[in-house]
Amino acid sequence: KSKYFFEEEEIEQLAEVSTHQYRPWEKNEKLKVVGKGLPRLDGYDKVSGSAVYTFDVILPRMAHAATLRCPHPHARIKSIDTSEAEKLKGVLGILTHENAPRIEWYGRSFLFDPHLRYEGDEVACVVAESERIARQAVRSIKVEYEILPFVVDAQQALQKNAPQLYEDGNLMRGKPSKYERGDLEKGLQEADVVLERRFDTQVVVHNPTEPHVSVVKWDGDHLTIWDSTQGVFSVRSRVASVLGLPESNVRVIKKYMGGGFGAKLEAGKYTVMAALLARQIGRPVRIALDRREMNLAVGNRPDSYQTLKAGVKKDGTLTALYLKSIGSAGAYPAGTGCAWPLRSMYACPNVKVEEYSVYINAGRARAYRAPGHVQGFFALEQLIDELAEKVGMDPLEFRLKNYADKEPNWNIPYTTKLLKEAYLKGAKAIGWERRNKTPGEQPGPVKTGIGMSSQIWWGGGGPPAYANLKLNRDGSVQIIAGSQDLGTGTYTILAQVAAEVLDIPVEKIEVILGDTDVAPYCGSSGGSTTAPSVSPAVRDAAEQMKAKLFSAAAAHLGVPESQLKYAGGKFYSAGEKSASLDIGQLARKMGERVLVTTGRREANPEGYAVNTFGVQFAEVEVDTETGKIRVKKIVAAYDLGRVLNRQMLDNQIHGGIIQGLGYALFEERLIDRNIGKLVNANLHDYKIPTIKDTPEIEIYIVSEGDEKLSNTGVKGVGEPAIIPTPAAIANAVYNAIGVRMTSLPMTPDKVL
Ligand code: MOS
Repeated sequence: KSKYFFEEEEIEQLAEVSTHQYRPWEKNEKLKVVGKGLPRLDGYDKVSGSAVYTFDVILPRMAHAATLRCPHPHARIKSIDTSEAEKLKGVLGILTHENAPRIEWYGRSFLFDPHLRYEGDEVACVVAESERIARQAVRSIKVEYEILPFVVDAQQALQKNAPQLYEDGNLMRGKPSKYERGDLEKGLQEADVVLERRFDTQVVVHNPTEPHVSVVKWDGDHLTIWDSTQGVFSVRSRVASVLGLPESNVRVIKKYMGGGFGAKLEAGKYTVMAALLARQIGRPVRIALDRREMNLAVGNRPDSYQTLKAGVKKDGTLTALYLKSIGSAGAYPAGTGCAWPLRSMYACPNVKVEEYSVYINAGRARAYRAPGHVQGFFALEQLIDELAEKVGMDPLEFRLKNYADKEPNWNIPYTTKLLKEAYLKGAKAIGWERRNKTPGEQPGPVKTGIGMSSQIWWGGGGPPAYANLKLNRDGSVQIIAGSQDLGTGTYTILAQVAAEVLDIPVEKIEVILGDTDVAPYCGSSGGSTTAPSVSPAVRDAAEQMKAKLFSAAAAHLGVPESQLKYAGGKFYSAGEKSASLDIGQLARKMGERVLVTTGRREANPEGYAVNTFGVQFAEVEVDTETGKIRVKKIVAAYDLGRVLNRQMLDNQIHGGIIQGLGYALFEERLIDRNIGKLVNANLHDYKIPTIKDTPEIEIYIVSEGDEKLSNTGVKGVGEPAIIPTPAAIANAVYNAIGVRMTSLPMTPDKVL
């Protein structure tokens, strides 16, 4: 049996025996193409505007849909009148709870539900000749609402007499989620210092460049969906199931995509509404959410109200860690837990956790780049710094003192752990010794400080993931996998893996992803699992291809395989009768027009924890007169297994740091508590970092391939990139001014 994590979920599976016969890459193996910082193979398509994103898909006779969303935080539909909207020229159809099929959604509601639980909940969907007409029709639908009392704050929602979203109360599943190891009370008694601290984090919205969008088309009882999604197979199974279609009748396609960050891991209501309308009018339908709808309705990182308690001995040994967290699920079930950092970062025998996920009248939370970990580390790593200070230790020394040599939840070894190396590399690069010995004592109003934060994430990926490889007679190759490229470089890294094995230029390789009809299964692109899951499948397919070619070449050249040399896509027979044969020629001689192999991702090793590790060091400047924090520099040092493409890896880390900086300093979904409505659902009032806010970034990778993990030894980087940034900045701010930032975002008012 093996275990792995996808997002916050633990997946258990029966291990399968690996079928590959070839030698796994050694950890420090010198590779020619893998690891190189090649630019994206699709770069030209993107910068020239020829890349077709879902947003750009235009079909003949395509109609456009738009959604009427509830303007109130909590309401019930008393009556709905669509007659005026229907009379508008160009309106083709309208769906409401009165005429739509009752399709269950979120386990607690329906596709169209007369009970509306947040501003943005779906009331009706109109299809028309143009998006403009559809939106106009949406505005002319008359709805009489019964206004219900609402609550938009998780802590208020837990109080007695708070407005209820569900009959069984506001606490999700009716009880907190709990974890315990050792004996917390005993651990606290053994401690010389006990600290209790509270940290709060805000709700932020994903805001990928491309908003959510689907184009749907029926051919008889077959449905094709172009979708901006992180998981084509997950959309396929959900849509097929709610529409009562066999999965084989549903095809989901996604070629190019402008990001997701977790907001596009699941099938959207909009996709199903468009499919119902398209069937009704017998035409293809496009439905695109605008940024306001995206900010309201399709996900956010939940807030957290965290109370931490820790016990430490005089020598710096952690004896106890406790966390109680409260987070807003929003109006429908969603995970808000943030305890994994506390559970898994340090060797601490006595740990106790209680996590409360609370319904409020606001958009539902979703997985958002390192769900729970960003919130959790913001609190934990500041507490760790304070504990170090209390026992008179350097924060880095304190972390090394409590270093977990084994995975603390299961007491099993890691496949690899090079966090110590990352700490030391990063500390040297930032100049750790430059940090203030006494915070806040620099002269003048502008003070600088240096802080750090560790990170841990899963990121090992796992099965199932498959890739088909086709060798054409001209020597060109196609890789076909049911994975997806969110913009992060999957097309390029997979071509690199095949190019490495087959020793042919990447230009000869085409990578086809994101099409459920042509590709074998791969999982959703989330949880930093894509590269570690799919790259081994591609390597497997390529090695099988090479093995086939070897035996064919031996037969054709009339020499044993052992006397064949392979280089640059050609076989050479050694000795007097030297001859050569390229793989395209060979395929022709084999009587094949297209030679095909299928590779698979082997199971993760039994009895090991697979994790990524890393640290970020931040250098900040705090103006104590204006309250402004400027992040001058971030040094990132990581253990991520093998690097597939250094440029793409650096891109991911840059993106994570900048997104983490936005979370730390600027971003916040603001709901007016008096009216229960979102006041900054646009990129004007919701501040994300600009180029001027971006610090100097320095990146170090201390790892080589993880030989125990897979045949490529690769781990994921997407989520590790963002996790430590906010805590590193907060600790640097403390080092500058001697004041703890206990709530996010760290706006000037909190500094002053
Ligand atoms: Mo997930 S939050 O899309 O990695």
